[in-house]
Amino acid sequence: MSQLEDLKHELKSLALEYAKIKTLPLKDRGSFGAKLNERKTKLLQQINKLERENEKKFLPKIDLTAPFAENSPRYEFKKGTKHPLTTELDIISEIYHNMGFNVIESRQLDDEFHMFESLNFPKDHPARDGYDTFRTEEGFIPPAHTSTMQYRAIVRFKSDLEKYGQIAVVVPGRVFRNEDVDATHEHTFYQCEGIFISKTANLGQLLATWKTFFEAYYGQALNIKTQPGFFPFTEPSLEFQIEKPKSLGGKGDGWLEMGGCGMIHPNVLKTAGVDPEIYKGFAWGCGIDRLVMLKYGINDVRYFESGKLDFLKEF
Ligand code: DAH
Repeated sequence: MSQLEDLKHELKSLALEYAKIKTLPLKDRGSFGAKLNERKTKLLQQINKLERENEKKFLPKIDLTAPFAENSPRYEFKKGTKHPLTTELDIISEIYHNMGFNVIESRQLDDEFHMFESLNFPKDHPARDGYDTFRTEEGFIPPAHTSTMQYRAIVRFKSDLEKYGQIAVVVPGRVFRNEDVDATHEHTFYQCEGIFISKTANLGQLLATWKTFFEAYYGQALNIKTQPGFFPFTEPSLEFQIEKPKSLGGKGDGWLEMGGCGMIHPNVLKTAGVDPEIYKGFAWGCGIDRLVMLKYGINDVRYFESGKLDFLKEF
């Protein structure tokens, strides 16, 4: 046995000595314990010293004059990986970019105007409560949906209407809701907003855009369907579902709710300075976490924000 192993062995047997304290007469316990502690401290110091010496022995010397890479083999680099949602958001942005959409980033702190007023939520309307918004003490709102970016996106790309006859923007982003958390609900999640405005924009184009996107993302043909919905910022409003394909764990009979969409309400266009008599638009908002969960068969949305390394290392 090496000296180091001997010491470690002794440390282990010391643990048994501690157990003896209970069997001693009260008056002897103090001094016996103190002796054990003293021995233990010494042992730990010796072990520590030997271990550090060993480390040094086995490491090659650093050549201080060499470029960093020359010395680097002595370190075992543990590179991190991208969070799966980051990777997927890049893929999603790329697909939309290839379809001709601008991609802009959303904000993580917004205000009453962008969250509600600009989206045609009447003051004191109960629909405002439906979004379970968090609020800071100063009255800011961490956005509860990426629709908060509609006004900014339209204003920013307005000149595209004259240049190209259209505005086409998607906005992936992080959103927050004051909700009870369970396997399918998180207080922090991701959405991707889409906005298209032209003189002839229509629902058929909206559905084609969704279908094209989903088929590109999952790399296969998919069935889609819509049902009536309600959002103050669209008229008509639809909820959007895709059929869970067999290859993604579906039994061919399940529909998955993916988000909301509709024709942009004339008031939203007007507020952002676009004449609704001339232009029409469609918009949609898609939950990203659900999309990614379906792709990889992840069954609990809480994994994404959990910081669990076992989960993250799988990607
Ligand atoms: N923002 C909505 C939500 O989170 C989804 C949505 C509905 C987005 C309709 C849209 C839209 O752009 O037109 O519930």
